[in-house]
Amino acid sequence: MSAHFEARVLTVHHWTDTLFSFTCTRDPAFRFKSGQFTMIGLLVDGRPLLRAYSMVSAHWEDHLEFLSIKVQDGPLTSRLQHILPGDTVLIGRKPVGTLLEESLQPGRTLYLLGTGTGLAPFMSLIKDPETYDNFDRVVLVHGCRTIAELAYEDAIERELREHELVGELLRAKLIYYPTVTREPFRHQGRVTELMFSGRLQSDLGLERLDRAKDRIMLCGSPGLLADFQAFFKQHDWVEGTGTRQGEYVIEKAFVEK
Ligand code: A2P
Repeated sequence: MSAHFEARVLTVHHWTDTLFSFTCTRDPAFRFKSGQFTMIGLLVDGRPLLRAYSMVSAHWEDHLEFLSIKVQDGPLTSRLQHILPGDTVLIGRKPVGTLLEESLQPGRTLYLLGTGTGLAPFMSLIKDPETYDNFDRVVLVHGCRTIAELAYEDAIERELREHELVGELLRAKLIYYPTVTREPFRHQGRVTELMFSGRLQSDLGLERLDRAKDRIMLCGSPGLLADFQAFFKQHDWVEGTGTRQGEYVIEKAFVEK
């Protein structure tokens, strides 16, 4: 069997001139866990050109959804940004990734911290009832440069809270904290500053970050990951792996160079 399957593009949504998302059909045999990624792409000159993308869609949805930046000279995204409904995309059959709820010890608050397209795996996770099992609350923080880049804001704040499968859980447990760095907004500043200063917790009326009770999933730019890794090291946080539950897990956002 081929390493990937062909999927048909269903919808395309352009959030900004550098950010878009699309949905496509799903091979019924393609199974994944919330938070995972797979290789996706296009045939270019008869050969598959693939990059890693996290699933935005929930594991229980019939279709697949992905969020992508547009890099004008990027080998894949310079082409992928022009896809239209009816076009064919390639989807790798082998999902992988570290942002798994099962890799974390149970706790009080689960923080899902993403910048830019690093939001993608968390969209899948917040739609999975199991994400909420071991936590009193889930705080989704999305950091972007501009308000327009806060993709899925409406889905997170409204649509999903009315959803028949997960709406009740989201209303009871999900707190959404969007923040931007380059224009005025109700929340401003980098995710790192907001978390390390305790500003985010005081804005939300939550207790200060506590390794004994809180868990973190992180997905974003290399700088964000490096700053958090230094913090985790300094404060003795334990990383979760496939074989050992921990206090945090990390995945880089897959930005095309
Ligand atoms: P900033 O505007 O201060 O660079 P990008 O679009 O470059 O991927 O960035 C997405 C968001 O991540 C921006 O708000 C950006 O803030 C922020 N960011 C960049 N580097 C870091 C970092 N080291 N720690 C936290 N946030 C970061």
